Amino acid sequence: MANKLLNTAKTAKKDEFYTQLSDIENELRHYRPHFKGKTVLCNCDDPRVSNFFKYFALNFEVLGLKRLIATCYKNNEPDLFSMNTCEQAVYIIYEGDKNGNKVPDPSEMEVLPLQGDGDFRSQECIELLKQADIVCTNPPFSLFREYVAQLVKYDKSFIIIGHQNALKYKEIFPLIQNNKLWLGYGFSGGAAHFISSYEDKASAGDHKAGMIRVSGVVWYTNLEIQKRHEELILFKTYNPTDYPKYANYNAIDIARTSDIPADYNGLMGVPITFMDKYNPEQFEIIGNTCDTDWLRGQGVGIMGAETIKKLRSQGNMAHVTANMNSLYIINGDGKIILPYARIIIRRKK
Ligand SMILES: C[S@@+](CC[C@H](N)C(=O)[O-])C[C@H]1O[C@@H](n2cnc3c(N)ncnc32)[C@H](O)[C@@H]1O
Repeated sequence: MANKLLNTAKTAKKDEFYTQLSDIENELRHYRPHFKGKTVLCNCDDPRVSNFFKYFALNFEVLGLKRLIATCYKNNEPDLFSMNTCEQAVYIIYEGDKNGNKVPDPSEMEVLPLQGDGDFRSQECIELLKQADIVCTNPPFSLFREYVAQLVKYDKSFIIIGHQNALKYKEIFPLIQNNKLWLGYGFSGGAAHFISSYEDKASAGDHKAGMIRVSGVVWYTNLEIQKRHEELILFKTYNPTDYPKYANYNAIDIARTSDIPADYNGLMGVPITFMDKYNPEQFEIIGNTCDTDWLRGQGVGIMGAETIKKLRSQGNMAHVTANMNSLYIINGDGKIILPYARIIIRRKK
């Protein structure tokens, strides 16, 4: 149900999920030293309701921030469930506690009008972006590609929320491959509970009223974190039965990240959840099997009519055709197996 709602949000561009303060605290505690003397921008955040703004305002002195800027999109009414009805937006600047009561008071916040609707792509918002050292928010999922492209263009540090499926995007994957973006610590249980305006709230099993549970939500960052240098302990040994080779590519298939063999030095296809364990000193990322141009460049042939015929005779109606350069496996019984999306990696040590 939650993923269906996420798709609805995508198409309707509703994107109105709000991040819980506890999730922000859990992630950002790993980045503390990065904030000293820095200007933070939250540019998809109505400052009066955003927990990102709240987190940085409340921790301004603890983190040693220089400046906090937040811009809101369209709606300037203090309503958590923004309907984006008002074209005029505001931004807020906070420069720390002035009256010595150690609390961010409204009188210490500078509230300024924006000329336009607060779209992060507008020139005036880009001017604010230029002033920032670190950008931190949960941007609209539907604009994730554009959002990241802008951060990269202006060479900003960032800690942002997105869906793990974005890893496979043509615009995002090369950033990961070239170590310009990686995954943060993440949400407990691999799913986020967002505060949501949808009628259909979290299912009964979630026990969190007023929340929507979305699985596969991750933090993306380009700031150094300890996690990225932790080695994945490998304890399995390679054998051709448990690790079949693809029929049309010289790499072995690995169904679970924890099964990566300790003694295999060739190419390996691993699930995208591997990215959560990726340590660039331990592994090299070679490619992504969702990118058919890359597969073609690697010399991966098309599946061909015979393979498809065989697949159908097994009762497999997957959306593949004879001209696709999809990877497949022929198992010991001669059956055609189509693996899920894989990232191709190689061990460095
Ligand atoms: C997923 S919500 C997250 C809100 C807030 N950052 C949080 O984490 O609680 C994304 C927010 O981006 C805003 N938004 C949508 N399109 C935008 C745009 N083009 N520029 C800036 N903000 C936008 C939405 O109004 C919404 O509040």
